[in-house]
Amino acid sequence: MELGKDSLETKTEYTFGGTLKSTFSAHPKIDPAVGTLYNIGYSLNTGPGDLAVIKCKNDGTVMSKIHRPPLPGLKLYHDMAISTKYLIVPVIPYGVINNPIALLKFVVGMASFGTEMRWHGDLPSYFMIFDRETLENVATVQVPTFSSYHTCNAYEQEDGTLSIYLAQHRGDREKLEAKFRDVFHSVYQPEDDCDVIRYDLSTRDWTFRTRTAVSSCALSMEFPVINPSYLGKPFQYYFSPALRQPGYFHVYQKVNVVTGNVLTYDLPEGVYGNECVFVPKASAGSNTVVSAPSDEDDGYLLACLYDGNVHGGGLLILDAKTMRQEALLSMPNPIPFHFHGTFVEDVV
Ligand SMILES: [Fe+2]
Repeated sequence: MELGKDSLETKTEYTFGGTLKSTFSAHPKIDPAVGTLYNIGYSLNTGPGDLAVIKCKNDGTVMSKIHRPPLPGLKLYHDMAISTKYLIVPVIPYGVINNPIALLKFVVGMASFGTEMRWHGDLPSYFMIFDRETLENVATVQVPTFSSYHTCNAYEQEDGTLSIYLAQHRGDREKLEAKFRDVFHSVYQPEDDCDVIRYDLSTRDWTFRTRTAVSSCALSMEFPVINPSYLGKPFQYYFSPALRQPGYFHVYQKVNVVTGNVLTYDLPEGVYGNECVFVPKASAGSNTVVSAPSDEDDGYLLACLYDGNVHGGGLLILDAKTMRQEALLSMPNPIPFHFHGTFVEDVV
């Protein structure tokens, strides 16, 4: 949608000149060097479950290719990652799989997107790998079954390893989805959420090598974010909301994926967090140039909060180096849980 810059009024639907024949996920990735935007979506005019891989350049040109992923039927594609050469899409066995009647109900509009989807833990997971230039599917690599919504980052190493970091669920996907269907009455447990897991693939023969948890000290979490300048490159830190005990996110954590060290910030009693956004200090008005590895955490974390004490909203600003609070601002209205956000420079 196009919104008025000052009024935020809805102006028009932006359709990329009518070139997109697919949906557009909430997790596009922008190459920090050239600004090219990559995304995925569901094809709207081929088979149900066909995957659209999309590239939007700064000059407004859009390239999109349709692919048929492994596992039959309609899977939930939610997020993707980019490395220097590749676009990586996790395909997990959650969806309307091997169930033509449920698929028909969805296609003719008798069932919603989520109600017919099921977890199939006896089936594997995959990473589909696409060339970032051509959007061709260069490989589809089968890996041990995992459940996930969100990726964290990916990069290639000199020895031909492609490392993919994602938020992997600790527990049962069906139980988690049941909680999402009754979100106002559900209590989240640490075992419902995720750990960041690193998957290593060989790009020489496109085989799965290893999967490893990046930290044994990190809390159960979701929505990992990094300094956007490090997208697709080796990185040290992810930041996320997290929980120590049942309830909702009441901690923010900074995890060093190299050493496993963790720094945390606890929210005040009755205040709960959501996805945070990393804003490099260079974007936040200082003259710092973010390029050296030591600058990776030189920025602020912004997070919209829910203050249950007054049924209001809040904005938290943390120093990403120290995880100390810079500001905690009140807002009149809460932002719904699970909304994704972004930081736009120079709007006001
Ligand atoms: Fe998401």
